Amino acid sequence: MARKLAVIGAGLMGSGIAQVAAQAGWDVVLRDVTDEALKRGTDGIKASYDKFVGKGKLAAEDAEAALARITPTTDLDAAADADIVVEAVFEKLEVKHEIFRALDKLVREDAVLASNTSAIPITKIAAATERPERVVGVHFFSPVPMMQLVELVRGYKTSDEALATAREFAESVGKTCIVVNRDVTGFVTTRLISALVVEATKLYESGVATAEDIDLACKLGFGHAMGPLATADLTGVDILLHATSNIYTESQDEKFAPPELMRRMVDAGDIGRKSGQGFYTY
Ligand SMILES: NC(=O)c1ccc[n+]([C@@H]2O[C@H](COP(=O)([O-])OP(=O)(O)OC[C@H]3O[C@@H](n4cnc5c(N)ncnc54)[C@H](O)[C@@H]3O)[C@@H](O)[C@H]2O)c1
Repeated sequence: MARKLAVIGAGLMGSGIAQVAAQAGWDVVLRDVTDEALKRGTDGIKASYDKFVGKGKLAAEDAEAALARITPTTDLDAAADADIVVEAVFEKLEVKHEIFRALDKLVREDAVLASNTSAIPITKIAAATERPERVVGVHFFSPVPMMQLVELVRGYKTSDEALATAREFAESVGKTCIVVNRDVTGFVTTRLISALVVEATKLYESGVATAEDIDLACKLGFGHAMGPLATADLTGVDILLHATSNIYTESQDEKFAPPELMRRMVDAGDIGRKSGQGFYTY
């Protein structure tokens, strides 16, 4: 029998996770709070499968079968018999707590509860449950069907068994995992990109080099696919400001202190590609 996955939140990340899991043969329940959100999520999945079919990377009948394995629902109870639940709702601890509290009462004792949070310590999320040893971070990257990495994150009480289940799930959908042994705010990936973007912004802000040259330095000097300032524009200067501020608040490590320019850009609405202006003009 196919294993069952429940994904909570049909936004950008939740729908991507549902998509790759269904394609890998998992039966997927995709839960969101409104029918509109579910429609947006499933329309996105269909469009993405169609693109893969168009490029000859997926057979049309496999796309159809994968889509049929996804059950969209607004009913959380549909997650009750899942082997693993992946939560991908807004990055707000209160919202995640409410969901984990409800899931803890609902799902099987042996089920693993995972969060796709980008930065919130898993220990804080797990505290809403009576099974913190079965709570783990599975941090996918956007766009999920394209990005190879999953950051597996241990909370303070996460068991080896729960971590192994999470790894098995991520690998079954074709991803490669790294393990974060202590759930410091920002884990490994958000800390690395925050430190790089903060330093790149300081170099730009103080006139040491142009945005173009800072990005070229990383591309040609280190083989990065994209420079840090272009990455900030793509991700959103606001998102990175939020991430680095949180890391700074928790760690008090000066290297994460957000530069004034990042704050001013956000105040002015120059948050990157989505606003048409960031470090570059779009
Ligand atoms: N966007 C990214 O690049 C990215 C990358 C990695 C991780 N993440 C993390 O993934 C999570 C989701 O991010 P996203 O970009 O997909 O967000 P999103 O805003 O696209 O989607 C969030 C979805 O959660 C739904 N939701 C809210 N409350 C809910 C509830 N109680 N039950 C079910 N659904 C509910 C919303 O209706 C929405 O559809 C966040 O924790 C985020 O930090 C995001």
